[in-house]
Amino acid sequence: MSRTTVTTIIPELDDPMIVVGQWLDQAVSDALQPNPNAMTLATAGPAGRPSARIVLVKALERQQGYAEFYTNHGSRKASGLRENSWAAGVMHWDASGRQLRFEGPVVKSPDEASDRYFASRPWRSQINACASRQSQPLTGPTDLEQAAQRLAQAYGAPDPFGTAEPAHAPCIPRPHFWGGYRFWFAVIEVWASGRDRFHERVRFERDLRAMDEFSFATGSWSHTRLQP
Ligand SMILES: Cc1cc2nc3c(=O)[nH]c(=O)nc-3n(C[C@H](O)[C@H](O)[C@H](O)COP(=O)(O)O)c2cc1C
Repeated sequence: MSRTTVTTIIPELDDPMIVVGQWLDQAVSDALQPNPNAMTLATAGPAGRPSARIVLVKALERQQGYAEFYTNHGSRKASGLRENSWAAGVMHWDASGRQLRFEGPVVKSPDEASDRYFASRPWRSQINACASRQSQPLTGPTDLEQAAQRLAQAYGAPDPFGTAEPAHAPCIPRPHFWGGYRFWFAVIEVWASGRDRFHERVRFERDLRAMDEFSFATGSWSHTRLQP
């Protein structure tokens, strides 16, 4: 007589954002790896050639289902997204045997959200964001550092080579070429490591309909369990 015991790691859920939020929260509180909010973000420009890099998820909107990250609007990823807003992302926490995969459109964050986040960053990070033309070639290895030092001096840093900020640090406006993006999830695949490579995979999908340049009307999620 055969006997089957089924113990699922991923619970039956209508909304995958519950798992996404719980897993991210747990990875942050467990602190088992640096940058538990790291996501590999893959974009594909008009020729359809993918390119991938890490970005840090700075906010997770659990009701609407998007993640926010910050970058330079002139970077390679940004120009890829201008041509093709559909992206794919992966978050992986090796110590807990968990992976999340995401697919969907990426749109710029509203200016007010980018201004708020930029203002919350350390002074030096603000200076360096202003100085960097991310993904552009450097003519010399110290160019960027020198540009950042000139800027720090212009903003009144006591020692442009040091990290100290001026006593009365003037407010640095967010440069127009730097800001947030919101990655709206149309597909989320939740993966949990199982015994003897019997991993669990659940793929969630929903429709997104563009409402304006920043947001989408969201359909309800449907899901399918997949073989590992
Ligand atoms: C741990 C880690 C975190 C990173 N976080 C960001 C980030 O939040 N935003 C960003 O623009 N680049 C970040 N980077 C750098 C990117 O991976 C990448 O080198 C850069 O954005 C340029 O990519 P692009 O030329 O494809 O646009 C991070 C890199 C690492 C290793």
